[in-house]
Amino acid sequence: MNNVRINDGIFMFTMNLDDILFESMWELPDGVSMNSYLVKGDKVAIVDGVIGWDGVPETLYAHLKTMDITVDDIDYVVVNHMEPDHSGWLENLKEITTDFTILVTAKGAQFISSYYGDAFHIQVVEEGDTVDLGQGKVLSFHPTPNVHWPETMLTYEQSTQTLFSCDMYGGFGTLQASVFYQELSESDQAHFDYETVRYFSNVLTTFSPMVKRAIQKTEELNVNMIAPGHGPVYKDSVNKIIDQYKQYCEYANGDGDNKITILVGSMYGVTEKAVAAIESYLSDKDITVSTLKLPYATKSDVVTEVFTAKGIIVAASTYEYRMFPPVAHAIDECGRKKITNKKALYFGSYGWNASAEKDLMGIISNYRMKWTFVDPISFEGAANKETIHKIKSGVDALLESMQ
Ligand code: FEO
Repeated sequence: MNNVRINDGIFMFTMNLDDILFESMWELPDGVSMNSYLVKGDKVAIVDGVIGWDGVPETLYAHLKTMDITVDDIDYVVVNHMEPDHSGWLENLKEITTDFTILVTAKGAQFISSYYGDAFHIQVVEEGDTVDLGQGKVLSFHPTPNVHWPETMLTYEQSTQTLFSCDMYGGFGTLQASVFYQELSESDQAHFDYETVRYFSNVLTTFSPMVKRAIQKTEELNVNMIAPGHGPVYKDSVNKIIDQYKQYCEYANGDGDNKITILVGSMYGVTEKAVAAIESYLSDKDITVSTLKLPYATKSDVVTEVFTAKGIIVAASTYEYRMFPPVAHAIDECGRKKITNKKALYFGSYGWNASAEKDLMGIISNYRMKWTFVDPISFEGAANKETIHKIKSGVDALLESMQ
């Protein structure tokens, strides 16, 4: 755990976690940071918490001491989001003190009671409500339901124009060289850009329409610094992360990079051989190709790479009258995430009968994914020259449809 002064009277507590699955399911090759903030006027407010707080109370006491604050000085705790990665520390804090007021939406108040009991004094806030901390520090509250749970809100500090956005504008990746995005090297920024799209696709894609509304709400405020619950703080050029989030909302609805993601499921390498021919064919084209072999690719990578591509190739064999299960599960996950309107091609090998295609279309229809497929190609046994030619024509049709 570190604490850093990020603005006049505003401090960030941040802790890197690298040995967890996010939400107990998303792989984190570079971990994730958990960020919490403290706003100091005459009164003191803590905005969101950090999971476990790394050994509350000792850690909390030590960090508050560096700011000339004791635990008795905490007047408010703002709960922007009730998901326990941010609110779980209330369980620890209530063992030390409950002599503070929680500021939270009405739905959040309900969740606090059901998750942590009724020990707290709660003040429900609504759109535009303010709390004056003194010394010019004024917090205002802006509910953004379903970014990412129904109780979520943004908190804005008016004098420094700082937006505490919790999950919104967040990203995976651990904070090392600096907590400020703008102070990172170009390669570290590129790394965070990818970790941010990975985070969005894994955690927020399902809620893209609500994220769009939260972006509008951000733009109605005069924001000069964005301080999220995960990932780096954005200062000065906050439009950078706002524009990224705008783009991600379009990715969820069919847009994407000039890229084809190939999901490969091949039991004995027959379908995979056809994929190799297609990769070679695409290498001459002006397009990025991302090939993920299942079940070896991570769930997080599958969702990210499908999300960011305009075109998808599903190359999967038939397995027991259905599609090769690891690929079926991957498409199913993309459906649960509401990744819609992609352009796509299916091809794959079969032995007894060609059932994978029907299974695939069932998943697409079940989740109302509205992916547009060019003519599918199922082939018995290995792909011969004629089949490879057909698949290449399918790839051409896919490229055409992506224009
Ligand atoms: Fe970082 Fe939705 O919790």
